[in-house]
Amino acid sequence: MNHEILTERLRLRFPRDTDAQAIYDRYAKDPEVVKYLSWKPHTSVEETLAMRKYWQRKIDKGHSVPYLITAREDERVMGMISVHPKDAFKAGIGYVLGKKEWGRGYMTEALKAVIAEAWQNSTYIRLSAFCDVENIGSYRVMEKAGMRFEGIARAHSVLPNMGPTPRDLKSYAIIKGD
Ligand SMILES: CC(C)(COP(=O)(O)OP(=O)(O)OC[C@H]1O[C@@H](n2cnc3c(N)ncnc32)[C@H](O)[C@@H]1OP(=O)(O)O)[C@@H](O)C(=O)NCCC(=O)NCCS
Repeated sequence: MNHEILTERLRLRFPRDTDAQAIYDRYAKDPEVVKYLSWKPHTSVEETLAMRKYWQRKIDKGHSVPYLITAREDERVMGMISVHPKDAFKAGIGYVLGKKEWGRGYMTEALKAVIAEAWQNSTYIRLSAFCDVENIGSYRVMEKAGMRFEGIARAHSVLPNMGPTPRDLKSYAIIKGD
């Protein structure tokens, strides 16, 4: 997959260490933004930088293809959308957007672009994602991007901001040609 994807309003590009401050400020420190994610809000930019370096090791091994979501109009950092290869034909997707950017269709635009890029420039034929049953905004994004609901994976994962009990997650996927 290409390391940069352009849409009408967005530039999706590989993140760099120098993006850590913006990532921290725009979304990583915000408890409301990370509520349904697998990590707790960051308490310092050093924590964000450490996560960035952790992910860089995954990138280097081919275990993750992350795209920083930036605005074409002023290059501001808005969020992240990542592809997580599982094997040659399937990958998972995860995404997060700073709160100031919510509700303007940005993530739907980003997700559609990443799906199109995968069909064009990878061997994947299946892309999938999970989201918490209460995370309405997230599953609306997936539905609007053409992903289909496949069922509820019960007691699938502990989400650290949602308590110690494993949460039910909605499972979505799109197949090339859908
Ligand atoms: C979920 C998230 C990515 C959505 O991004 P976004 O750019 O605001 O999404 P879009 O504007 O493209 O679409 C969101 C849709 O969900 C709807 N929506 C959002 N919150 C909603 C709510 N609480 N109740 C009902 N609908 C809701 C919006 O109305 C919109 O649908 P519509 O176009 O039919 O009106 C963003 O809120 C986010 O990053 N949240 C925190 C991180 C997260 O949860 N990531 C996903 C983990 S699985």
